[in-house]
Amino acid sequence: MIKKSTDVVKAANYLRENNVVAIPTETVYGLAANIFSKTAVASIYKIKNRPQSNPLIVHIKSEDELENYAKDIPEKAKVLAKTFWPGPLTLVLNKTDLIPDYISANKSTVAIRVPSHPLLASLLNELEFPLAAPSANPSNCVSATTAESVENYFKNEIPLVLDGGPCEKGLESTIIGFENGAPVLYRLGALTLDTIENVIGKVFLKNELLNQDSPNAPGMFLKHYAPKTPLYIIENEFEFLEQLNFENIAFLGFDRPLQHSKIKEQFLLSKNGDLNEAAFNLYRTLEKIDTLEFDGIVVKWFPNTGIGMSINDRIKRASIK
Ligand code: TXA
Ligand code: MG
Repeated sequence: MIKKSTDVVKAANYLRENNVVAIPTETVYGLAANIFSKTAVASIYKIKNRPQSNPLIVHIKSEDELENYAKDIPEKAKVLAKTFWPGPLTLVLNKTDLIPDYISANKSTVAIRVPSHPLLASLLNELEFPLAAPSANPSNCVSATTAESVENYFKNEIPLVLDGGPCEKGLESTIIGFENGAPVLYRLGALTLDTIENVIGKVFLKNELLNQDSPNAPGMFLKHYAPKTPLYIIENEFEFLEQLNFENIAFLGFDRPLQHSKIKEQFLLSKNGDLNEAAFNLYRTLEKIDTLEFDGIVVKWFPNTGIGMSINDRIKRASIK
């Protein structure tokens, strides 16, 4: 049975004994294991029901450790690490022999980041090894942004969730890789693209990479981050709602409600029109709507700037049937 705790030493001991422990990060909660424990990493895949072809992110305590785990690091990657770590940025780099193949799904690269959540920072400082951690949700479900959500998902599967309160960002890290030395966006996330481009110049968008979760398996993982209640993005409000066969609909919006007789409840992510607040509220609100008995969720696109691009990416994936 899972326990919530703020005890870093206890969490460290569970991890040393090859257990999976849920950890808070500034983005979303993670399901963590010692990267050198094959059995603990295998448990992550089993508990999440995650395909073996989908590699994990390695969480290290400081940028100083990067060269132990990554090699041939492009200059722009070094600049990004210096500028944004600790923080919600993951870099995909060529891996060293220290990274076991079972972490990186047999790829020659590894995804790596230095998280900024203070409780996780003290856990990493306590440990002798980095932590492999995907988001703490069953595959294809909405990521957990509170210890309570982790508890709901994994009551019987893990012994401990390190309770760091609600995640500050509420969206996963941004992932940047390098192809022929050029920076490429693999996943939109909590660190905005314009913030990154202000530091290293143009980042290339690969649509085919944006639309899948594993560069090795095109299209397979397009649907992601989805609530159980069917979700529809609407462009033409009135027509869409008239045609929809449901009568009991939740509206998920930014700062303004959408009035229609079929819409029974309004869920506004930021009444003040603050996109960061909207990102913080996105997953927790989808999770809440799932506990209520709606036939469907209708969503309008968010302003497509800054973190709004990442919100739109997640609702697009959530809407795919
Ligand atoms: O914010 C986050 O990144 C959270 C917290 C816990 O750190 N973690 C997270 O992990 O979102 P996960 O496993 O849910 O998503 C990691 C993504 C996956 O889409 C995976 O395919 C991709 O990173 N990835 C991992 N290693 C990769 C690699 N070597 N090359 C390309 N993509 C990789
Ligand atoms: Mg995930």
